[in-house]
Amino acid sequence: MISYHKYSVCENEIVSKGIYKLSVKGSFEGKPGQFYMLRAWGTEPILSRPISIHDKIKDKISFLYEVKGRGTVQFSSLDTGDEIELLGPLGNGFDLSGLKGKVALVAGGIGVAPMFYTAKELKGVSLDLYAGFRDDTYIIEDFRKYVDSIKFSTDTGKSGHKGFITDIFDPSVYSSVLCCGPEIMMKKVVEMCNAGDVPVYISMEKHMACGIGACLVCACKTREGNKRACKDGPVFNGKDVLFDA
Ligand SMILES: Cc1cc2nc3c(=O)[nH]c(=O)nc-3n(C[C@H](O)[C@H](O)[C@H](O)COP(=O)(O)OP(=O)(O)OC[C@H]3O[C@@H](n4cnc5c(N)ncnc54)[C@H](O)[C@@H]3O)c2cc1C
Ligand code: FES
Repeated sequence: MISYHKYSVCENEIVSKGIYKLSVKGSFEGKPGQFYMLRAWGTEPILSRPISIHDKIKDKISFLYEVKGRGTVQFSSLDTGDEIELLGPLGNGFDLSGLKGKVALVAGGIGVAPMFYTAKELKGVSLDLYAGFRDDTYIIEDFRKYVDSIKFSTDTGKSGHKGFITDIFDPSVYSSVLCCGPEIMMKKVVEMCNAGDVPVYISMEKHMACGIGACLVCACKTREGNKRACKDGPVFNGKDVLFDA
């Protein structure tokens, strides 16, 4: 039975305003697009928080997270040597095995988190990163050695294209697209890809409680009925998802 295990934090560094990279010591399993349930507290808050694998090397795993509410505020106060409990790897992740030709990674905000490990693991393709941010950009330079090009945007125009990343993304030149970000942005990317008949796989961010398929909190509407984002996803074929946004 899969269960929570205790680990030691080896680093929790701030990479941009409100964005942290948390590294945990140990030997971990997991493929790109999979996630872990994290908790660094006793009983409150009750629920653990789902966070994607950002990077994984021999003796540590890293998570990139945005500070939003009670749970992530608590993560942000963790120090080297502090204890954290992890359950995972969970979910299906991106299926990289069949990808060939020219592939685009399209990320919105903290949706860039799972894309780093994805870019590292995706071999034998030509790979471009598209990343959209509100104001400050983060971690995109880390991608340089794994991708052929990086295009980015900021809503404020602080750097890169001023506007949405979808303004400068043309799916017609790609054989496949992998996407993670706010639902409204993924909906747009899926519409653009569907119009050009380009396969697109999206990582759905639903509120989660158990993370293992037991509570049905994470329901995601698809053409085949409701699916569990934690167990049947979080990665879905963009053609199958019925968006709420
Ligand atoms: C599969 C998956 C992977 C994710 N990967 C990352 C990642 O790599 N980095 C990152 O910063 N964030 C990621 N998220 C979103 C992250 O889980 C939420 O931002 C986080 O749970 C917010 O917790 P909080 O206590 O700070 O906020 P609060 O708003 O206080 O949380 C309250 C409750 O709502 C849930 N919740 C709130 N916002 C979300 C949300 N957007 N998605 C799901 N549950 C939410 C919390 O889990 C909690 O149960 C991921 C979500 C999913 C589903
Ligand atoms: S979070 Fe419980 S079924 Fe998905």
